[in-house]
Amino acid sequence: MFWSSVLLSFVATRTAFASSVASSPSLDQHAEQLLHDRLFQTNLRGPRWTGNDNQNTLTSLVATSMEIAGLTVETLNYTLFRWDPRWWSLSLKLKDGTTMGLPTTGYWPYSGDSGLRGVTAPVHDAGSYALFPNQTANPSSLDLTGLPQGESILFFDNPSPTKNYSQPGYGLLGSSVPVQDIPELGNLTNPHWQSAKTLNWTAIKELGVAGVVTSWVHTSDDNGALQFLPNDGAPGNGSLYDVPALFVGNSTGETIRKLVKSGKVESATVVLDAPSSWASSSTVIGHLTGKAGKNDSIIVYTHSDGPSIIEENGPILLLAMAEYFAAHPININIDFVMTTGHMSGKHLNESSWMGERPEIMQNAKAAIVCEHFGAIEWKDNFETGKPVFEPTGRYEPMWTMVNSSSASNQLHELYLDAFEGTPESLRMAMVSPQVVNGVKSQWYGAGGSSTLGYSNIPTVGIIPQPDYLWAAMVDGGWSRLDVNMAVTQINVILRLIQSIDQKYLAGQLL
Ligand SMILES: *[C@@H]1O[C@H](CO)[C@@H](O)[C@H](O)[C@H]1NC(C)=O
Ligand SMILES: *[C@@H]1O[C@H](CO)[C@@H](O)[C@H](O)[C@H]1NC(C)=O
Ligand SMILES: *[C@@H]1O[C@H](CO)[C@@H](O)[C@H](O)[C@H]1NC(C)=O
Ligand SMILES: *[C@@H]1O[C@H](CO)[C@@H](O)[C@H](O)[C@H]1NC(C)=O
Ligand SMILES: *[C@@H]1O[C@H](CO)[C@@H](O)[C@H](O)[C@H]1NC(C)=O
Ligand SMILES: *[C@@H]1O[C@H](CO)[C@@H](O)[C@H](O)[C@H]1NC(C)=O
Ligand SMILES: *[C@@H]1O[C@H](CO)[C@@H](O)[C@H](O)[C@H]1NC(C)=O
Ligand SMILES: *[C@@H]1O[C@H](CO)[C@@H](O)[C@H](O)[C@H]1NC(C)=O
Ligand SMILES: *[C@@H]1O[C@H](CO)[C@@H](O)[C@H](O)[C@H]1NC(C)=O
Ligand SMILES: *[C@@H]1O[C@H](CO)[C@@H](O)[C@H](O)[C@H]1NC(C)=O
Repeated sequence: MFWSSVLLSFVATRTAFASSVASSPSLDQHAEQLLHDRLFQTNLRGPRWTGNDNQNTLTSLVATSMEIAGLTVETLNYTLFRWDPRWWSLSLKLKDGTTMGLPTTGYWPYSGDSGLRGVTAPVHDAGSYALFPNQTANPSSLDLTGLPQGESILFFDNPSPTKNYSQPGYGLLGSSVPVQDIPELGNLTNPHWQSAKTLNWTAIKELGVAGVVTSWVHTSDDNGALQFLPNDGAPGNGSLYDVPALFVGNSTGETIRKLVKSGKVESATVVLDAPSSWASSSTVIGHLTGKAGKNDSIIVYTHSDGPSIIEENGPILLLAMAEYFAAHPININIDFVMTTGHMSGKHLNESSWMGERPEIMQNAKAAIVCEHFGAIEWKDNFETGKPVFEPTGRYEPMWTMVNSSSASNQLHELYLDAFEGTPESLRMAMVSPQVVNGVKSQWYGAGGSSTLGYSNIPTVGIIPQPDYLWAAMVDGGWSRLDVNMAVTQINVILRLIQSIDQKYLAGQLL
């Protein structure tokens, strides 16, 4: 393993690996086949948007299978006002009488509902929704002066922030391969960071804006396609911004800008037919009782909603782990928690279970968050001058959020040890969010992962972050999933859980 001394003041004394090799746990062939079948068949049904039938089918598969495996399963049921984007399109009516249809890359989640008729109004180019040097949105950068009388369609380009885990906001606490093999640490480009750029839609609506068109910057159309940015949503059960908004690719944005500037555009029509309706969705908790007969437990955590077989494969990963430990009992209990609400635009609080089942947090001796396993890395390649979205030939790094307080050192050590013998293509980096100038960097992960991380429960929050994480794809993301890599990653977690249990049995779990 490769330790960074940036933040570590202690010298790692590695546990004797040889002692655990003999009983190193891993999925058997039958379990691997089941994993494949479940991933494939879940993907076949289409995206698991919060509260849709496909999400409920996935959670019921996992709940019932965990019950069959012998776990005690509980479901926490919720009702949410689900925003359902069905049809969207964009056209410009030119002053010469022609109407141009323009391709879109998708929509702004929970932005509004125009119905099929759409909203039509003159276009105002508000320039660029710029970023400050620290990569946060600068809301005053939009030029909202001189809006047309009455209603308008607002157009602006929308650069995405980048993240840099080599900046002081994050500390590197260790990696499974030499850090120079993880150049993404210093350059995490990703369209979905744009989700942090919300707007005051109430204020925009008050200005007479009836619809919005916004374009991707420094991003290929393929990479921007159908990116769903849930953190942009109107927070609150049932609320909508009431300003239907669409995204377009950069070249379409340039076309709009040029036509508007030359005075050729009479109006734009934004169609975003997206009715809302009540839907039910569940958080599933599977409890596996350990041989020790105590309350102490490990939380294994994920979310169950999202657009692709990468984004929400967590429940299927956890089911494989649950079946393994049901067949190979350990001493400590395990609580497998699969929450819902991650993609709900904050309409459904995905941390609710923590308040509803406080004993799960109280009993936990450690927490492990697992999501997005098996992700193949894709990036925009700028070699030709224009971005081309393509595979890089690598896997997405297994980013792991950790707390740098010394109380978590033991867990970090066991986690690093669990990568012993894994292939070099599996690149893991433990990064710890730091407070710099009074600002705490974000701990990414399924809702409440940060609550776990900032609590006194030692936590590893695993979150590979591919560019397409929040993108809906025609193949559901199947071509970007490597099931064998997912198996390797699951086996790492099985080893980690077993080694935590060995410490627990020996009375050495801190
Ligand atoms: C939650 O919903 C599931 C699936 O519809 C149902 O089987 C279960 O009984 C419900 N649980 C509660 C506590 O209402
Ligand atoms: C959302 O609001 C509805 C109607 O008031 C309510 O029935 C439902 O329980 C709420 N859901 C959540 C998750 O708060
Ligand atoms: C980023 O920079 C802007 C402008 O200087 C500042 O207002 C904001 O507080 C900064 N945000 C963070 C998170 O540092
Ligand atoms: C990220 O930060 C590191 C450390 O400050 C710096 O060396 C590197 O150039 C930065 N990366 C980018 C893409 O700016
Ligand atoms: C950062 O990543 C992007 C996309 O992967 C790449 O085009 C760019 O060259 C990288 N920049 C640096 C400084 O490594
Ligand atoms: C958004 O704009 C509205 C209307 O101008 C204003 O009342 C509200 O305070 C603003 N909200 C925020 C968070 O700034
Ligand atoms: C297109 O992208 C370039 C940078 O790649 C940017 O300068 C330009 O503003 C973008 N235009 C639009 C309309 O998004
Ligand atoms: C274990 O959990 C049960 C049920 O929640 C509770 O009654 C008991 O007090 C707990 N025991 C300990 C030692 O915390
Ligand atoms: C979500 O639920 C958690 C746990 O009950 C609570 O601490 C948090 O304040 C809730 N968040 C919101 C936005 O209501
Ligand atoms: C780490 O956990 C401690 C509690 O053990 C908490 O007080 C602290 O805020 C956490 N540190 C960071 C950097 O989040």
